[in-house]
Amino acid sequence: MISKDTQKKKRILVLYYSQTGQLTSAVRSMLAPLEAVGHDFDITWEILQPEKPYPFPWPFLEFFNVFPESVHLVAPAMKPVSFAKDSRFDLIILAYQVWFLSPSLPVTGFLKSEGAAVLRDTPVITLIVCRNMWLNAQEKVKALLKAVGARHIDNAVLVDQGPPLATFVTTPRWLLTGAKNGFWGVFPPAGVSSSDIADASRFGRAIVDALKRNGQKSLGTMLSGLGAVKVNPNYVASERIAHRSFYIWGKLLLALGARESRLRKAALCVYVVFLLFMILTVVPLGIITRALLKPFLRRSLEREVLRLEEPSGSSTERMAVYR
Ligand SMILES: Cc1cc2nc3c(=O)[nH]c(=O)nc-3n(C[C@H](O)[C@H](O)[C@H](O)COP(=O)(O)O)c2cc1C
Repeated sequence: MISKDTQKKKRILVLYYSQTGQLTSAVRSMLAPLEAVGHDFDITWEILQPEKPYPFPWPFLEFFNVFPESVHLVAPAMKPVSFAKDSRFDLIILAYQVWFLSPSLPVTGFLKSEGAAVLRDTPVITLIVCRNMWLNAQEKVKALLKAVGARHIDNAVLVDQGPPLATFVTTPRWLLTGAKNGFWGVFPPAGVSSSDIADASRFGRAIVDALKRNGQKSLGTMLSGLGAVKVNPNYVASERIAHRSFYIWGKLLLALGARESRLRKAALCVYVVFLLFMILTVVPLGIITRALLKPFLRRSLEREVLRLEEPSGSSTERMAVYR
């Protein structure tokens, strides 16, 4: 029997920001099953808007120039949110993209703003849509959610199509020029595939079921068994090393001044050359070292992968039900 609680309209808040519209398509696909049974759910869509918009496509130097603030979580000034300060929701979806192994600046801006109080004591599902390196960013978002007293119950991730070596070319090409098409017969179109975006609706179907079943009872994970995330063990150490470098250089660049500072821009040029050198030397060295150490580190790496895949996990046993 359905309880009175279960019959009450569920209030859902969707917080998102997108430059190209890709993340918007993904979160809309995820929420489509909830909109289809509209009478049960009251959905508020809230775009997170920085006071000063970021450019797209990105001018080359501007792109790298946001890494110090991104990595050090320096919040940009944000436009006020449109929901009332004391609004309460049954569920919040926080959809974000990754900038330099960190949450994008508009998302950091929101999480550090007054508006983030809406997250307190509320179940939150994060949806990440990025190239493929999201582990560090999610650790930072988890900490920011914890700081505002949110209850993080699920995480789902969509990554760009094609092998990492291809997206290493297609994603920056897209971000710096706006060109998204595949080319030369070897490079796929940039971004997440349209089938992966369409498949995100399985999360929505599972959410509809869970919300209808749960009523006002405390919500646990709703997206387990749906292949919500998949941690690539090879990225665990690479992300850590890259983040360390971003962190140290970011600190130096922040000390040199704001994004407009000429001195900072000059130092940034040196960093970009250093970064390219690192990618051409340290990355291949890292791959070799990892292969050599793999037998000795397997156990601890497996544990770390499981931890990073929490709370939703990578198992797929419920996929057939919600496809
Ligand atoms: C400044 C910048 C830095 C980025 N850094 C990363 C990154 O570290 N890891 C990653 O997987 N994707 C990274 N991306 C790709 C984004 O996560 C995202 O896929 C892309 O910007 C499209 O998102 P959109 O919905 O805002 O258009 C970066 C994008 C930008 C603009």
